[in-house]
Amino acid sequence: MDHFALVDGELHCEAVPLSRIAAEVGTPVYVYSTATLRRHARVFREGLKDAGGVHLAYAIKANPNIAVLNVLAREGYGADVVSGGEMARALAAGMAAKDIVFSGVGKTRAELSRGLQAGIGQFNIELEEEGAVLAQLATAQGITAQAVLRVNPDVDAGTHAKISTGKRENKFGVPIGEAAGIFARLSELSGINLRGVAVHIGSQLLDLAPLEAAYARVGELVAELRAAGHAISHVDLGGGLGVTYRAGDMPPTPADFGAMVARVTADWNVTLMFEPGRVIAGNAGVLLTEVIWVKPGVSNPYVIVDAAMNDLARPALYDAWHDFEAVRPSGKRMMANIAGPVCETGDTFARDREIDAVRSGDLAIFRTAGAYGATMASTYNSRPLVPEVLVDGDRYAVVADRIAAETILAAERVPDWL
Ligand code: LLP
Repeated sequence: MDHFALVDGELHCEAVPLSRIAAEVGTPVYVYSTATLRRHARVFREGLKDAGGVHLAYAIKANPNIAVLNVLAREGYGADVVSGGEMARALAAGMAAKDIVFSGVGKTRAELSRGLQAGIGQFNIELEEEGAVLAQLATAQGITAQAVLRVNPDVDAGTHAKISTGKRENKFGVPIGEAAGIFARLSELSGINLRGVAVHIGSQLLDLAPLEAAYARVGELVAELRAAGHAISHVDLGGGLGVTYRAGDMPPTPADFGAMVARVTADWNVTLMFEPGRVIAGNAGVLLTEVIWVKPGVSNPYVIVDAAMNDLARPALYDAWHDFEAVRPSGKRMMANIAGPVCETGDTFARDREIDAVRSGDLAIFRTAGAYGATMASTYNSRPLVPEVLVDGDRYAVVADRIAAETILAAERVPDWL
């Protein structure tokens, strides 16, 4: 459920008409609903009520806007971060360092060091050497790093190949068969307290079966590690729960997910950790855009909007579907292709799709753009960086400015030897 709906024939975010945001902030612009973010945060937590003590670390890569993080921090969420930049954002948003999990397959030594200095709660180690370096750095600082070992369970998540992470040929984690040996060696080191394991097999999962298979393997590993004398207190089960992009998508609900987790982990006796991203932010945001032209095409017309692949990359990258709706639908429908102004054929949001009939100057939205939307934007074609707005009831704030092409230009220079 989200808070983008028609009121008196016009799409609103909560109590704010989207046309007002378009008039005052301009388009394209991302619009987020505070009420939806809160609702999703609560529904996810509620789903896990039978899973014992849990730690929720919102995967901030999904939507790292500092205002969004602030809403989630107030809901008791920590953060899953994958870079020094994300760590800085989570801290700036008021998340406690101890509630932050530092993941990522390529954490640099400098990032590990900064994480230790900041007092990050847990490091998710991706390879043996990283664990050894972390132990060394922590020892040099006179502290002990809390860490878990990320394993690769070799499970096919059944999602898009570019967002699948748990097959053995993927770059993530240590092969689960080698985990016990690596765990034993790293546990010998001072400076690191290896207290458990982590797993994350992919994103936008619409089926619980692969997750259950991965968790079952992790359960066996936990038993094996305990039998070898290791104290296992934490297991990080990652993120990945899918959301509805398109009518007919049937993602598992957080309640279904929680019931599966409770069943599979019933005898683990650990603190379970989760890193949800999309399920919290995805349907809490839309990309608001204006139709520039309706251009005749060979079969269907091209609806050319002022948002492009640089603002919302998912269709170009993953052939992803985002529902398109007019802000003031007339009731009429049309067949169309929807494309942006960028000079690439890949800058196409939809082909041969039935949509609300629109004309030049009309406003429209792409739905389910709250996760992996603004954060993946670029300035390709020297377009401005897309702004972000957060709505709360009948008020809103611009929570990220539009960064003008001129501002980006101002950071470039021609060397004086040219
Ligand atoms: N934890 C780890 C270790 C991850 O790699 C990810 C996502 C998450 C948690 C959060 O997953 P979620 O709950 O959001 O599925 N740009 C792509 C998605 C990339 C996901 C990367 N990792 C997209 O637009 O679909």
